[in-house]
Amino acid sequence: MTLHFKKSLYRLVTLILLLAVPPTWAFSSSDTNKNASSLTDAYTYSNYDQVKTTHIYLDLNVDFDKKSLKGFAELSLHWLTDTVQPVILDTRDLVIHRIMAQNSIGQWHAVNYKLAKRDDVLGSKLTVNPLFKAKKLRVYYNSTPKASGLQWLAPEQTAGKHKPFMFSQNQAIHARSWIPVQDTPSVRVTYTARITTDKDLLVVMSANNIPDTELDGDYYFTMPQAIPPYLIAIGVGDLKFKAMSHQTGIYAEAGILDAAVAEFDDTQAMIDESEKLFGAYRWGRYDLLILPPSFPFGGMENPRLSFITPTVIAGDKSLVNLIAHELAHSWSGNLVTNESWRDLWLNEGFTSYVENRIMEAVFGTERAIMEQALSAQDLNYEIAEELPPGDTQLYIDLKGRDPDDAFSGVPYTKGQLFLIYLEEKFGRERFDAFLLAYFNDHAFESLGTANFIVYLKENLTHKYPEIVSDEVINEWIYEQGLPTYVPKPTSNAFTLINNQINSLLANDITLAQMPTKKWTLHEWLHFINNLPYNVSVTRMAEFDKAFNLTHSTNAEITHAWYLLSLRTGYKAVFPAMEKYLIGIGRRKLIVPLYKELALSEAGKAWAKKVYLKARPGYHPLAQGTVDGILNK
Ligand code: BES
Ligand code: ZN
Repeated sequence: MTLHFKKSLYRLVTLILLLAVPPTWAFSSSDTNKNASSLTDAYTYSNYDQVKTTHIYLDLNVDFDKKSLKGFAELSLHWLTDTVQPVILDTRDLVIHRIMAQNSIGQWHAVNYKLAKRDDVLGSKLTVNPLFKAKKLRVYYNSTPKASGLQWLAPEQTAGKHKPFMFSQNQAIHARSWIPVQDTPSVRVTYTARITTDKDLLVVMSANNIPDTELDGDYYFTMPQAIPPYLIAIGVGDLKFKAMSHQTGIYAEAGILDAAVAEFDDTQAMIDESEKLFGAYRWGRYDLLILPPSFPFGGMENPRLSFITPTVIAGDKSLVNLIAHELAHSWSGNLVTNESWRDLWLNEGFTSYVENRIMEAVFGTERAIMEQALSAQDLNYEIAEELPPGDTQLYIDLKGRDPDDAFSGVPYTKGQLFLIYLEEKFGRERFDAFLLAYFNDHAFESLGTANFIVYLKENLTHKYPEIVSDEVINEWIYEQGLPTYVPKPTSNAFTLINNQINSLLANDITLAQMPTKKWTLHEWLHFINNLPYNVSVTRMAEFDKAFNLTHSTNAEITHAWYLLSLRTGYKAVFPAMEKYLIGIGRRKLIVPLYKELALSEAGKAWAKKVYLKARPGYHPLAQGTVDGILNK
């Protein structure tokens, strides 16, 4: 075949293809939305019932000067319709340069697109009109410094202070702020990436990180397992790697690497125990990336590479349930995924349950029960004092709010208590077999609450009838608050502390007579959380003098202590609390303090002053939350 003939043939085929496919404007909008009822995720604009992304190739440069990712995303498409449809993608604050589409014989064409006005929650709908059933779309774009899913840190904000840092946090709907995607957990993609950046920085992703990668500013990644877009993740910084076992290791800045390795060296044991209970770990390596203290969460379960706050490096492994939690998501969440953000409890409730089983297997029953009891206490407080009743349902009605704004302990702990309830009713043996089968039967799938209930009935509650009724299941999942028959985890150690608190407050014993030398973190937290708010300031000062709580190096203890101090009017903590609020950006630790401060005029004024200094160091997500609290 001559080249000339080949070209003509291609032209002819293209023409036939174009003619064969009616243009999009030939469809009425009702045609376009004919399957709309099967779309369960209200937080995406995408028509994922008509066309699904199966693979994404990212080719991006990380530009620290411009605080921007620039390049292209190439989306491979699988069509579910016979006819051509527009391809609708989610974006937020992206600048789109041009879009190309590839037809079935491999030719690329520039295509028309429209970027709609920005919605505060959903971002900007990107409608691409390829005019043929494109096999691939290439979107050339750049992210902007405002990207809600990225934090850009100046060298001063890092541990090493010499080089910048950047990381992503996509869950729930922030992938769209740095990748044009169908940003819904109902869509799963494999991905590959080429990422370029400054030569002296290392890039890691939720993919196959090669431990001894050469530092050259040019990195390639492959994630061969299909994951929802909220699990695509990137981190760039002055990172070093240290192995903990054949399968696990840590990426962190040099200054904290050894401390992190010492703190988390039970990770391999956690994987081994999880595999015994829930089936093979299917993701290859499991590494941790330790982020700067502004990371807005405790951890994020990015596959193969969990992102971890440095605030859990306490020196005594007392907060490593966080690692168990993120690891547990390798089954609940990453393997079996909630299909919409209303179903978050399927991710977080199962994960909290699995987390606690891992903690029990590695650290023993006593610690596991204490952790259950602390979570249950926190949940009871939230339900009684803080949450609108509608937000206490497992299957939550998000009412169009940003999913971040409806975040609470309900999907976590109420979900966990539901599973503990089922475990107690059916016995461990049956319940464990059920869970193992659940993970295997839905591996690499996304599933919603209704489908879960069908599966639960078929494989547990109807299989062993008359133990748990359908009404009880409905009450747990669809009703508000906690059922009267909710399990109440009780720890003997905590009961002992309750008695000691009473004796202490009645002056029957002195501080010196309390066995605090032997207390674990959990016992300390229980003690602080169960002191009454009318405890005198003099008494608070006595505790502080005896135990130096204001300057504890455990971020959970200081958090609980500062909260109690605000509630009891113990003002001596203010200077230390100011440093804390400026130094840490983890929402769970800072938000309750700002909320409590905002309750009084004086507190709010002080909080605003501190926030002025703290805000520039916070992640956009944390900024959004605290802005909301202090500007009300
Ligand atoms: N996946 C979550 C974090 C998340 C949830 C981000 C919903 C955005 C929306 C992560 O696994 C998590 O739950 N982290 C907790 C860990 C804790 C419960 C041990 C955290 O960050 O505190
Ligand atoms: Zn989680």
